Amino acid sequence: MIVLLAGLLAFAGCAQQAEKPAPAPEKPAAPAAPAAPAPTASADEGKKLYSSKGCSGCHGANGEGIPGVGPAMKGLYGSEVELQDGTKVKADDAFLLESITKPGATVVKGYSPMPPLGVSDSDAAALVEYIKTLK
Ligand code: HEC
Repeated sequence: MIVLLAGLLAFAGCAQQAEKPAPAPEKPAAPAAPAAPAPTASADEGKKLYSSKGCSGCHGANGEGIPGVGPAMKGLYGSEVELQDGTKVKADDAFLLESITKPGATVVKGYSPMPPLGVSDSDAAALVEYIKTLK
């Protein structure tokens, strides 16, 4: 994680030195922007929780997913998820929150239910913000 961050910072530094015009950002919200209004739930906080709460153990260090263990978090937000009972739901904020705070309530098809992890509502909100940045 630290190595990755350092790498990103080094990359950002190089890009600035090269004085190339910055490409238009593809993502609407830049999570690391210092000027961003401070929401109660922050993606940065969620990122820390993602490893400290063990999410990365089943969903991959960078949300890439682990076959047979946990579905990918990357690209999940806004996508359509098929549940065990065949219903299809859109992975919006409410769905992600429920998936984290009440894991048994919505079980993704092809997986055994995620165990309850005792994540508080505020921690879950931060985790949702982090998951939204994984594209
Ligand atoms: C022991 C393994 C395990 C751990 C730890 C774990 N999960 Fe999961 N998670 C799963 C499995 C398996 C599923 C798919 C079955 C289900 O939906 O219950 C899942 C589903 C999800 C979903 C819904 C995914 C989708 O494709 O719709 C979200 C969101 C999620 N987990 C977030 C988290 C977060 C955040 C954490 C850390 C607080 C976490 N998980 C920790 C195994 C795990």
